[in-house]
Amino acid sequence: MIYSVKGMRDILPPSSTIWNEVEAAARRVFARFNYREIRTPVLEETALFARGVGEETDIVSKEMYTFEDRDGSSLTLRPENTASVLRAYIEHRLDQQPGLQKLYYLGPMFRRERPQKGRYRQFYQIGAEAIGSDSPAVDAEVIELVVALLHEVGIHDFQLLINSVGSKESRAKYNEALRAQLKDVAPRMCVDCRRRAETNPLRVLDCKVPEDQPIIEQLPSILEFLNDEDREHFERVREFLDDRDIAYTVKPRLVRGLDYYARTTFEITHGALGAQNAILGGGRYDGLAELLGSRVPAPGIGFSIGEDRLVMAVEEGKTLAAASLDLYIAPMGDAALRHCAVLAGDIRKLDVSVEVGTDRKLKRMLELANKLAARYTLIVGDNEIVSQSYSLKDMATGEQETLNRQALLEHLAKSR
Ligand code: HAM
Repeated sequence: MIYSVKGMRDILPPSSTIWNEVEAAARRVFARFNYREIRTPVLEETALFARGVGEETDIVSKEMYTFEDRDGSSLTLRPENTASVLRAYIEHRLDQQPGLQKLYYLGPMFRRERPQKGRYRQFYQIGAEAIGSDSPAVDAEVIELVVALLHEVGIHDFQLLINSVGSKESRAKYNEALRAQLKDVAPRMCVDCRRRAETNPLRVLDCKVPEDQPIIEQLPSILEFLNDEDREHFERVREFLDDRDIAYTVKPRLVRGLDYYARTTFEITHGALGAQNAILGGGRYDGLAELLGSRVPAPGIGFSIGEDRLVMAVEEGKTLAAASLDLYIAPMGDAALRHCAVLAGDIRKLDVSVEVGTDRKLKRMLELANKLAARYTLIVGDNEIVSQSYSLKDMATGEQETLNRQALLEHLAKSR
């Protein structure tokens, strides 16, 4: 017996129907905000994430699926997609296209984390990136899009947390202050924090070790270190959100687990999800394009929704309907089976879903039609073939109607 790999799972019906509905809803919202789809490969050169996401992050230092290819190059299964989208933006000179590049994506990401409810090693993200402007209006529009998307899938009870981690300049000052304070307290913290205190103090704020949290709460807040432009940028983002009546909480310790963030960062949490309650995260990443080799600056902002978690939230309180089937045809005998296969083909052209039974026992076929919740059933034997008239049964009312072939097709087309 071979099982699926730890932390990787099959998504089966009826849950897969919700996945499809969520994806269709996301595409509708993206279209309204003028985003278009980008598809990037799941494999990239390891250096892209090492440089883009940051060597010191948990993602890069502990969680990536990295392997040596046959030619000796180091490849990694993408742990996230922002770095890949930026790589594509630079590679295809999308900066030369008119206006902002507003790109969305859906697909699997891979992180070797400890699996638990809402946390998988292959998980799915629905995300978007708006590249080419540092205007706070874009930040607010991206957040507005996220909120619209959650509403579109029927989720209203969520919490939006925002922060600004400032530009490089502000962060350098903040890092200095953190480093100074950490000198005293780091020896009482976990091994990772002791190392980060030296190499990348901001990452200390990302520590999940419970014993370290009281120490982290005493550390200075980044908001006190924002320079004038960063502070104004953050204020304008908040103004734009207020104009849109979007409620948020400012959370000064929200630094997020990736190194590329600059200025605005945000997360949305949802109560029903338990410990892994972040349904999505995002932020601005001015400077990332240059870090990845762009000769022209390409400031941008985006977000990624954890689709597994979004679907969990949507499924909460929803009884999953079995797939709906329009028509079940029960053929009696070999000649009827051939006849029904052709008839089913014609009916499917009307966009009506049809299942043709293959059992020899009529009783068993009708039981199955019931289990499949078919709306109509049709029993076809030699008489029906000769007379070309069919008796269509409405399973909800029990009513039967005798129809010739043309009338049958018209009836089914109308009933869709
Ligand atoms: P992230 O916070 O690493 O950000 O991931 C975004 C979301 O993906 C999380 O909030 C969570 O819902 C989901 N997620 C992450 N890891 C897992 C996992 N192991 N299992 C299930 N769901 C998971 C990013 O990935 C950035 N690329 C977001 C972004 C886009 N920033 C700017 N643009």
